[in-house]
Amino acid sequence: MHIHRLEKIWLGIGIAMLAIFLIVLGTMAFSMGMAPPSEHHHTIDPDKVSETAPFDKPGLTQTGDKRYEAVMVAYAFGYDPAEKMEVAAGSTVDFMVTSSDVVHGFSIVGTNVNMMIEPGEISHISYTFDKPGEYLLLCNEYCGTGHEYMATTIVVKQEARG
Ligand code: CUA
Repeated sequence: MHIHRLEKIWLGIGIAMLAIFLIVLGTMAFSMGMAPPSEHHHTIDPDKVSETAPFDKPGLTQTGDKRYEAVMVAYAFGYDPAEKMEVAAGSTVDFMVTSSDVVHGFSIVGTNVNMMIEPGEISHISYTFDKPGEYLLLCNEYCGTGHEYMATTIVVKQEARG
């Protein structure tokens, strides 16, 4: 069968276009698969939690007006920081939590905050504490003999009138 020279060229262009299209599609799918929808999905070495920033200095930091960041480490059997964290009523707390050993829970009683904390995984959740009071934060994943003692408290203080 004789194919005209011009037809050969067009055929070539068609094949090239298809190849480019498939490469672009494949690359996009691959890069999207590599980057999960949450940009906050990070992993760290669970054996080096105490040396990895920001978990080398767990604690509460004020990041803005009525905004705090709470960097916390769950371990058998407790949370770092161990002392009660205090925020003013109406404050939003951005929790950043990881585990240095096994899977733990991170549940704040009376709120919808409920996460599973996996070693090496950094879990994020934000919550606005509108009502003053003491909020119990506890582990709801069975993690060993001290599981039931694994808890801490967040104190939400009534705002000072000004
Ligand atoms: Cu930690 Cu249960």
